[in-house]
Amino acid sequence: MKPKVLVTRRVPDEGMKLLEGKFDLDINEEDRGLTKQEIIKRLKGKDALLCLLTDVIDKEVIESNPKIKVISNYAVGFDNVDVATATKYKIPVTNTQGVLTETTADLAFALLMSTARRVVESDKFAREGKFKGWAPMLFLGRDVYGKILGILGLGRIGRAVAKRAAKGFDMRILYHDIKKDENFEKEFNAKFVSKETLLKESDFVSIHVPLTKETKHYISEKELSLMKKTAVLINTSRGPVVDEAALAKALKEKKIFAAGLDVYEEEPKIHPGLIGLDNVVIVPHIASASVETRGKMAELAAKNLILAMEGKKPLSIVNEKVLR
Ligand code: GLV
Ligand code: GLV
Repeated sequence: MKPKVLVTRRVPDEGMKLLEGKFDLDINEEDRGLTKQEIIKRLKGKDALLCLLTDVIDKEVIESNPKIKVISNYAVGFDNVDVATATKYKIPVTNTQGVLTETTADLAFALLMSTARRVVESDKFAREGKFKGWAPMLFLGRDVYGKILGILGLGRIGRAVAKRAAKGFDMRILYHDIKKDENFEKEFNAKFVSKETLLKESDFVSIHVPLTKETKHYISEKELSLMKKTAVLINTSRGPVVDEAALAKALKEKKIFAAGLDVYEEEPKIHPGLIGLDNVVIVPHIASASVETRGKMAELAAKNLILAMEGKKPLSIVNEKVLR
């Protein structure tokens, strides 16, 4: 009998074709995610789980079937999985680290460019038939080239954003993280500063920390008040890292110039205070959404699952100690 695997929503073929044939698959084919209760119900009798960042894989879900041999998350972020509980039951938790880095950095940069140069706002204006001719003061934005970029969280994605900024746009790089990286500093002429200094001095602040207890509301009213009035905030990490109500207020009162957002505090809800504002670009959690990258994520999620089922080390595991 083939091992049984729950796939909480179909992923691209690059992954599905590796799983088909090997496993007895229960795939959610609907155009929506499963609720927690649906996951619990369908996880019964299964041997493995392939899930999405929108699935809540908490203690209750894991304890409903602690015999599963792997939780393969189709995302680099894994704040949706209770890793401590999984570890307690010796269940490997895997993610799709590495393959989405550049694609996510591209979107962070797209948000940076489009907020600075008011691309979305002026597109809307042009479509509405309001363009009456070139004008000296029409849609004045902010320069990107040569400005100061502050990176909060120097992981893979933060570095990839810094590379674009330093090598392509001659930006000066400031960064803050739990640790310093002298090689990075040398390569990009970057400077390690306190969070406070970074917020005060940067023209663009891009967030790349994971969501943890410590980083919830990492940017709130106090942090926003430190930023320049001309500064732009970019968030492609996780919504709860930013206090969305405080951000909506700061944008409305023009305490900062603009924000570019891919993630929200209570997805798929977006704070109503943001919707009516022109100085925010709002995209629906699409940072890794390229044909190439979603294919690679599917392949990696499938390979991680297969390796764990074979008792081997997955390519990208977040609780390595379960293997020892
Ligand atoms: C996307 O948000 C991811 O974590 O992969
Ligand atoms: C991004 O941070 C990744 O780990 O791929």
